[in-house]
Amino acid sequence: MAADRRAKTDTLSLRRRLLSSSCRLFFPEDPVKIVRGQGQYLYDEQGAEYIDCINNVAHVGHCHPVVVQAAHDQNQVLNTNSRFLHDNIVDFAQRLSETLPEKLCVFYFLNSGSEANDLALRLARQYTGHQDVVVLDHAYHGHLSSLIDISPYKFRDLDGQKEWVHVAPLPDTYRGPYREDHPNPAEAYATEVKRVITRAQEKGREIAAFFAESLPSVGGQIIPPAGYFPRVAEHIRRAGGVFVADEIQVGFGRVGKHFWAFQLQGEDFVPDIVTMGKSIGNGHPLACVATTQAVARAFEATGVEYFNTFGGSPVSCAVGLAVLDVVEQQQLQAHASCVGSFLMELLRQQKAKHPIIGDIRGTGLFVGVDLVRDEATRTPATEEAEYLVSRLKENYILLSTDGPGRNVLKFKPPMCFSLDNALQVVTKMDAILTNMEEKVRSCKTLRLQP
Ligand SMILES: Cc1ncc(COP(=O)(O)O)c(C=O)c1O
Repeated sequence: MAADRRAKTDTLSLRRRLLSSSCRLFFPEDPVKIVRGQGQYLYDEQGAEYIDCINNVAHVGHCHPVVVQAAHDQNQVLNTNSRFLHDNIVDFAQRLSETLPEKLCVFYFLNSGSEANDLALRLARQYTGHQDVVVLDHAYHGHLSSLIDISPYKFRDLDGQKEWVHVAPLPDTYRGPYREDHPNPAEAYATEVKRVITRAQEKGREIAAFFAESLPSVGGQIIPPAGYFPRVAEHIRRAGGVFVADEIQVGFGRVGKHFWAFQLQGEDFVPDIVTMGKSIGNGHPLACVATTQAVARAFEATGVEYFNTFGGSPVSCAVGLAVLDVVEQQQLQAHASCVGSFLMELLRQQKAKHPIIGDIRGTGLFVGVDLVRDEATRTPATEEAEYLVSRLKENYILLSTDGPGRNVLKFKPPMCFSLDNALQVVTKMDAILTNMEEKVRSCKTLRLQP
């Protein structure tokens, strides 16, 4: 049956009847019905083509033929659990290990980013014998109960902060307490983490882990100042805890300069645990935890088996291997670097033109545009951001917002996003912003008229 067999309005009313409204749609006022994807493009039921600027899961492009073929080929031969010996799982672990620092050499395969972070939490607790976690403000680490507890972005709207969770400020040099004019924001933000640890210890708490996205995304496309993670790791390890880098949104070459976003923090910095998801499977449910021998041995010492029915299946691993092949063969990391720099340059030109653009930050194809009401106060331009995103959608460009003020436009497109796409998107943004400014000006003129 064709994917667009039902009228959009019927799909919407069925969805409203059968699915919980907790499962939200993009553009709830006028959702888009997408029936096909290819590369960096999505197509609706009428055949309209949208440039996809937000789907970081379709890392090497929607429906990449190499990835689709790999899944199909393996599905025709075998798909079973990882209790049988199979080459795909070891090949995949080996290929991943080639991208990581040598110390991160033991792998677990799972089905989702949430499962990966939940296992990271178990590993950290088992290894350290401690229970508590330090997290960054506004972070999101997954939808399981254990992870909602360490996700201020979620728990602030629920039953609040658990006694074993400690929140450190987001290392945001645009809007946080230590900004671009601070002589050493990395040190200052790391000292904040140290303070959080000390306060917890004074209450008799013991720290198992520091969890952070290598580039906090939900927090508003934040680029932590270089050197911050190594200093935080020193404080955390001194407290007996481990450093967990969540690479679920930002790994696999997206940041351009490096394969892993934590590597932006310094060549020598090595987390104790790295979690991967989303892009690792290009849309196939696949995730991974990489850790050190020491952490893995402590977990094994319990004698309790780790079994995951679907994690690391021959099909999942074939897909993961195909994604790595495409990243390598199409040189997508270098491509992300080149297109990302071009996009940032175009956006900087827009910043000079439109006062609503307060900050442009990014690396590779991870870019944020922080919209402000006022340059001096940096007040988030939330409604304006929402307006811009919905006008862009009318112009067949899919973009969305992030950050506590929902005012940061986030670019995390499939890695095949092109120079032309960057130019098209920024040209449209320019036209919409110019039009918005003209409207505001004419309203002011009207108000001034007697
Ligand atoms: C940074 C981060 N960690 C973890 C997760 C959870 O991943 P999943 O939805 O695959 O469980 C997400 C999902 O949005 C995420 O953005």
